[in-house]
Amino acid sequence: MILAPLRGVTIRCFRSVFGPLMREAGFTEAMTPFITANAGVDPLRDRELKGGAECGLRVTPQFIGKDPSALRTCLERVKAAGYATADLNCGCPFPMVRNKGRGSGLLRTPDVLRRMLETGCEVMGPGAFSAKTRLGVERPDELLGLMSVFNEFPLRFLTVHARTARQMYEGSCDMAAFREVASAAKVPVVYNGDAGLGGIDGFDVMVGRGFIRAIGERDDAEVWLARYVDASLGELRSPHPVLGRMKELVAYWRDLPRWARRWNVVKLARNLDELRSGLGLV
Ligand SMILES: Cc1cc2nc3c(=O)[nH]c(=O)nc-3n(C[C@H](O)[C@H](O)[C@H](O)COP(=O)(O)O)c2cc1C
Repeated sequence: MILAPLRGVTIRCFRSVFGPLMREAGFTEAMTPFITANAGVDPLRDRELKGGAECGLRVTPQFIGKDPSALRTCLERVKAAGYATADLNCGCPFPMVRNKGRGSGLLRTPDVLRRMLETGCEVMGPGAFSAKTRLGVERPDELLGLMSVFNEFPLRFLTVHARTARQMYEGSCDMAAFREVASAAKVPVVYNGDAGLGGIDGFDVMVGRGFIRAIGERDDAEVWLARYVDASLGELRSPHPVLGRMKELVAYWRDLPRWARRWNVVKLARNLDELRSGLGLV
């Protein structure tokens, strides 16, 4: 089971604090939220990677971009720094990203996609580069038509979030379309989308929001949250961004009975004292 990249949520500081819970839940690996693979950008200076290993699990850096030579430079750097695996984001649904041909936009430019996958497998080596995508941009059968491209390469695996980009994070996952992709795939396929920590029969899974919710359901959630506040303050050195970070996390718990009332207080908190007392962290 792989921890999904959730930008702003499963960030480096989160992974270092919640590492023990990730291991307890059965995760064997975490994928970083995307790191931009643009020319002239040093990925090792990205907040996601600065400082090396953190959670006691394999950490796979994920990259987003459409420039094979920039990707090559980034991968060479992370590989030299000791990362054995890396991933390409072919699924980000946001129109601003997608319309520039990055993320799920790569599904619309198979030649660029091919060159990105080729570069990744060349630099990282066979079985060390993966890709994460969706069933399509507009329709759930688009990925199926692109499997011949993904099948050309010795990918480590292909993670498929069983929604289209147009769906964003709404509506249900399309298990039938996912199964068609899985049977057409010559590379291992990892299921993603609304999976709980119990997984999905017959497939490796990537889980994001289900793990975040499970933390809120723990009796000792406050203890972990207090640690996260402290670690975040150590990292960010100013209360305001810590507040934003905690609100983003606790928002995932607002439907849980224990947190619903607290959420209403916490979303308005203006400083860390208000946050701590609103969350019952004192
Ligand atoms: C806030 C947020 C940030 C995300 N950031 C990324 C990202 O950086 N890279 C990526 O491939 N997917 C990203 N995703 C998608 C998730 O990795 C995952 O595919 C999606 O949430 C479905 O899985 P889940 O239902 O287990 O959460 C993000 C999703 C959310 C909600």
